[in-house]
Amino acid sequence: MSDSNLIAPHGGQLVNRLVDRDTAQQLTEKAASLPRITLTPKQACDLEMIAIGAFSPLTGFVGEADFKSICTQMRLATGTIWPIPITLAVDEQTKAGLTVGKQAALYHRDGTLMAVIDVAEVYRHDKAIELPNVFRTEDSAHPGVRAVLEEGDWCVGGPVHVITVTPEKEPGEQFAEYRLPPAQTRRVFSERGWKTVSAFQTRNPIHRAHEYLTKCAQEITDGLLIHPLVGETQPGDIPADVRMACYHAIIDNYYVKERTMLAVMPAAMRYAGPREAVLHALVRRNYGVSHFIVGRDHAGVGDYYGTYDAQTIFEQFDPAEIGIEPLKFEHSFYCKKTKTMASSKTSPSGPEDRVFLSGTKVREMLKAGQRPPEEFSRPEVADVLIEWAQRQDNG
Ligand code: ADX
Repeated sequence: MSDSNLIAPHGGQLVNRLVDRDTAQQLTEKAASLPRITLTPKQACDLEMIAIGAFSPLTGFVGEADFKSICTQMRLATGTIWPIPITLAVDEQTKAGLTVGKQAALYHRDGTLMAVIDVAEVYRHDKAIELPNVFRTEDSAHPGVRAVLEEGDWCVGGPVHVITVTPEKEPGEQFAEYRLPPAQTRRVFSERGWKTVSAFQTRNPIHRAHEYLTKCAQEITDGLLIHPLVGETQPGDIPADVRMACYHAIIDNYYVKERTMLAVMPAAMRYAGPREAVLHALVRRNYGVSHFIVGRDHAGVGDYYGTYDAQTIFEQFDPAEIGIEPLKFEHSFYCKKTKTMASSKTSPSGPEDRVFLSGTKVREMLKAGQRPPEEFSRPEVADVLIEWAQRQDNG
């Protein structure tokens, strides 16, 4: 079955920058004599997202005209919406070895050759326009800002030819079975007969509030894609393998299998709140998704963004241009009065009837081997987290 019933990719066509076996062989031989660039974890994630078409229409790391236009207009130089610059930042020394019009070899930090880039441009990394525009702050305490500040002061722009996106990581870390590129999620949606699909982005275990959003979405679309981000996150976040165990525990026990699908998104988190919500939506469009869940403080960190900034940003665009429909949710909680999950749209209760737990409180309970209340987290999920929290504590 074709995927022609599904939403068109952003920019019209799915990109594929993975080269065939023969080309990979030729590039590997050639790479030995090319200047080397070792990718940061974030850049390696970005390379994978470009390679598999998740960042369509990007075919490589952005050049200067795109960089400026993205930062100031949230658009590529061609006018296509794009909210966050996908840069290959390098330091002075690496830059000195590059020649515009030639190529360079891109390596994972474990030494695996991943790709070759056509060095179309080398330009100054203008952090002064990137930070306040993309992150709305220049505070180095913000993890996304810090990552940019630590990057090199030069950027390399140009298309990539990707040999592999799976370097020799620890076994189990790659979730190969769930690492489906957009062309494949589209195929699965079509095989399942789903015309409308909602996607749930997350970097956390699925607690009851998350579950509520996804179930609401399931009521109005044919299928649900639970699509956790498993690329680079900040140290305090729960590791992806632990989260995957939580997703299995909740899906197996509380979701309708025929209408639910789990796959991973190999992107890095930028914690850029509103702009990242737009990126997350456009990327899911590439995966064939028609509706995208945006709840409270989506992709936010600390209190850099207003609770609903990641929802209101979509009003700046023509919905037809974004293509995918944002499903906007109010802050959700368990309501003791109506005995159900709710938000202030559906619960007439006051704050005393609403179950809220801070992240700190939940972590304390898990470490102490206590399950958070069932109104907050399913016991099967709590048990996975308790096991992990106690393992952490025991060194
Ligand atoms: S995020 O970085 O991926 O946004 P998280 O995994 O916490 O972080 O959130 C996943 C999605 O659920 C986001 O769309 C977020 O806005 C939404 N969300 C998380 N908690 C709540 C809540 N209590 N009420 C409403 N939406 C929520």
